[in-house]
Amino acid sequence: MSKSNKLWGGRFEKDTATSMTSLSKSTHFDWRLAPFDLLQTDVHVQALNRAKLIDDSETKQIRKAIQDLFKKASSGDLFPNEMDEDVHTAIERMIIEIVGEIGGKIRAGRSRNDQVVTDLKLFLRGSARLISQQLVSLCEEINVQATKYFDQPSPGFTHLQHAQPVTLGHELAKHSQAFIRDIERFTDWDIRVDNCPLGAGALAGSALVTDLMWVANQLGFSKPSENSIDAVSDRDFVAEYLFICSVIGVHLSRFAEEIILLSSTEFGYVKLDDQYSTGSSIMPQKKNPDAAELARGKSGRLIGNLTGLLVTLKGLPFAYNRDLQEDKEPVFDSHDTLMLLLPAFTGMVKTLSFDTHKLNENASKGHSLATEIADFLVKKNVPFNQAHEISGNCVKLAESKKVEVHELTSQDLASVFKELTNDVMEVLTVKASLLARSSYSGTSPVNVKAQIGRMNEKISVLNKWANHNPVPEIS
Ligand code: ARG
Repeated sequence: MSKSNKLWGGRFEKDTATSMTSLSKSTHFDWRLAPFDLLQTDVHVQALNRAKLIDDSETKQIRKAIQDLFKKASSGDLFPNEMDEDVHTAIERMIIEIVGEIGGKIRAGRSRNDQVVTDLKLFLRGSARLISQQLVSLCEEINVQATKYFDQPSPGFTHLQHAQPVTLGHELAKHSQAFIRDIERFTDWDIRVDNCPLGAGALAGSALVTDLMWVANQLGFSKPSENSIDAVSDRDFVAEYLFICSVIGVHLSRFAEEIILLSSTEFGYVKLDDQYSTGSSIMPQKKNPDAAELARGKSGRLIGNLTGLLVTLKGLPFAYNRDLQEDKEPVFDSHDTLMLLLPAFTGMVKTLSFDTHKLNENASKGHSLATEIADFLVKKNVPFNQAHEISGNCVKLAESKKVEVHELTSQDLASVFKELTNDVMEVLTVKASLLARSSYSGTSPVNVKAQIGRMNEKISVLNKWANHNPVPEIS
């Protein structure tokens, strides 16, 4: 790096060591922020003009250079050179190369410390929306499947043991509920991100650019940050973003685990489409759930990105420290990971098929209707603890007879407890059990339909948010 290309150097006598230059350099990853750096530079130049620190003709020339660079950057034709330390250095150099000496004026009133955090906020506000758009598509596909199977009986599990019958629609809809919460997390996060760090300068604020409300608004923020030291130190919004990505990863992973498990020969409830499965290089019969396994695997990486950043932040005193340069790679990796994973995951979900026959057959297995006997007795005024005991005795009898509890005869049941009259047989079916679970969040088919309806309304509101990015383009 020659002294002339650095944004600093006046007080140094020796050149930077080559190994130090390599360590310091970040253009190989932060170049991705170039469009945002150009955008905020464009606003900054106008702010300097409003403060009468750059005249109209200079402003015009610099803004024209920025627009040209932006066009090139958008079409992927703009690259930093070997000597550029970071994206900010490169952009300043390029502007000076186009407009000459007056380009040096753009550094007045700002610092890379407030620049870099502004770039990252601008990037992340768009990223959160792109990921949310993908989550909207995923929720829509899950809900199509959930609607199709709104009344399909399925075994319901707790502790991975048969518990009570549920509808398959309910099982599927639980996943869109989780992903909707993730989009809501982004909308909530966006409120806290909505303050512009520009004007914080290195740490103390700017003596030259003071109309920070105007600057903030030009960049799509509703206000400037409150405290210049906090503004350049704060990476909470990065940690929170990585946390949300991690939770999305965890949700994908748990869904994936169910698909992997339930598609195994032992369960055989769900089948993956050929398009979203892979084969084995040695075993010709194999069809593996790799899309689900990669989702499960990549969740570890998303959590790793969050953990790494939190450890980086933990010991840092406030204001800018160079450690903060380490915040960008995990962000880009989490963004890229989800943008790669989500379309494939959505495709996999869309093309899942279910063995409805097997699901019907197994829904009542494992004495999963035992609770119906207890509920039946409660309605006959038997205290639940006694009803529970009696139903347990019925299960014991069924086990001794090697049948399911609902396969006992009415005589068998009456022999356990006399109030188990003939009409208990009516509640001892999967259909009756499902219809009975009609509490607001319950699994009954009617409730599942209503639940999906409410979700779809929420999704369309969230979709509007996801499709509106407050960050402007250069005009
Ligand atoms: N490249 C740095 C980063 O990514 C920003 C520059 C701030 N550097 C400095 N020496 N103050 O965080």
